[in-house]
Amino acid sequence: MKALVTGGAGLIGSHIVDLLLEKGHQVRILDNLAQPTHLKGRPDWIPEDAEFIQGDVRERDDLDRALDGVDWVFHQAADGGFTSAISHYFTNNSLPTAVLYELIRDRHPVKKVIVASSQAVYPEGKYLCPEHGPCYPPRRPVEQLYRRDWELHCPQCGREMSGLPIDESHVDPPMPYGLSKYWNEMLAINLGKLYEIPTVALRYSLTYGPRQSLFNPYTGICSIFSTRILNNRPPVVYEDGCQTRDFTFVEDVARANLLVAEKEEANYQVFNVGTGVGTTVLEFIRLLGKVYGREVQPELRGEFRPGDTRHLTTDASRLRALGWQPQVSVEQGLQRYAEWILRYGSIEEYFSAAEQQLKNTRVVVQSR
Ligand SMILES: NC(=O)c1ccc[n+]([C@@H]2O[C@H](COP(=O)([O-])OP(=O)(O)OC[C@H]3O[C@@H](n4cnc5c(N)ncnc54)[C@H](O)[C@@H]3O)[C@@H](O)[C@H]2O)c1
Ligand SMILES: [Zn+2]
Repeated sequence: MKALVTGGAGLIGSHIVDLLLEKGHQVRILDNLAQPTHLKGRPDWIPEDAEFIQGDVRERDDLDRALDGVDWVFHQAADGGFTSAISHYFTNNSLPTAVLYELIRDRHPVKKVIVASSQAVYPEGKYLCPEHGPCYPPRRPVEQLYRRDWELHCPQCGREMSGLPIDESHVDPPMPYGLSKYWNEMLAINLGKLYEIPTVALRYSLTYGPRQSLFNPYTGICSIFSTRILNNRPPVVYEDGCQTRDFTFVEDVARANLLVAEKEEANYQVFNVGTGVGTTVLEFIRLLGKVYGREVQPELRGEFRPGDTRHLTTDASRLRALGWQPQVSVEQGLQRYAEWILRYGSIEEYFSAAEQQLKNTRVVVQSR
């Protein structure tokens, strides 16, 4: 097959590129080397064997050129993270998907499109009340977070609830990024059905691994914490650090992409991609300290991010039924990440410089 990977210079896209080449496919990358993700320019991992177009998915002509002669499209280009942007997410993450389908319908008959969606389409997640069973509660009100009452409470009895892996059914994105990804996903699946363009959307969990940008202070917890630790500064932790995340290794995410590309049964469906294993942020920091051989004391200031989720792990049963399963544990994945980052020698940390702006724009808020 001949595959186009938009965002193929990034974390997930570049691993899809590698896997495609390994399997003998031809690969073209369309990536604008967005800032600050690629602060130092073209990354060293773009393979010689792939055709690289430096271009923008927001430019119709760039997309048109990139689609020429392609069988598969892996549409990964997007900006993520907790930032103050609103409209940018829709112009960068959603609108290009609509243009992509116009071009495919009118000029470039492809065999399949796989679009990157996100766990950010979910509200808080799925929870368990010891008395009333499972539920999908609404977001924690910001007044609750100001009081440092971090956990979810049962809507019926008020008791504290524990997190459960969430399936694909309950979508209600509260944040601009999640909304843009949901819009992207809905456009793709519905336009795909309408014009008979086989399409799959993958909702990735928190993905980490080698090649996560070392320069972007707004997204990528693994790189943000690592660059702090390696510069002898404490990772800054929101809430109380006991929130859980489903850390999923980037190669497992790339494998999910190839699998749904190959399987016809996947067409027109949405799949979660994640391990189902929850790791708290504090535990994640402890594991990072271990791979760097350092004692790490995180900094907890009682700050929080309105719209953040408390416990979000993924139920990927639907994808597992197709034959996918994660192969890399968090311990192994962090070892691989550390081997990669340590090859770069000294690295700056960019989080400190972004902190004030995050507070000024109320992305990060201080509890009372
Ligand atoms: N990493 C995660 O935890 C995660 C979780 C859920 C979903 N996702 C989604 O996965 C996809 C890939 O994310 P990633 O983690 O690899 O991020 P990344 O920032 O490492 O890669 C994104 C790539 O897209 C490129 N890009 C951005 N805007 C572009 C534009 N307008 N034109 C061309 N290229 C553009 C960037 O230069 C970058 O190389 C995104 O769609 C993201 O929303 C990521
Ligand atoms: Zn209850």
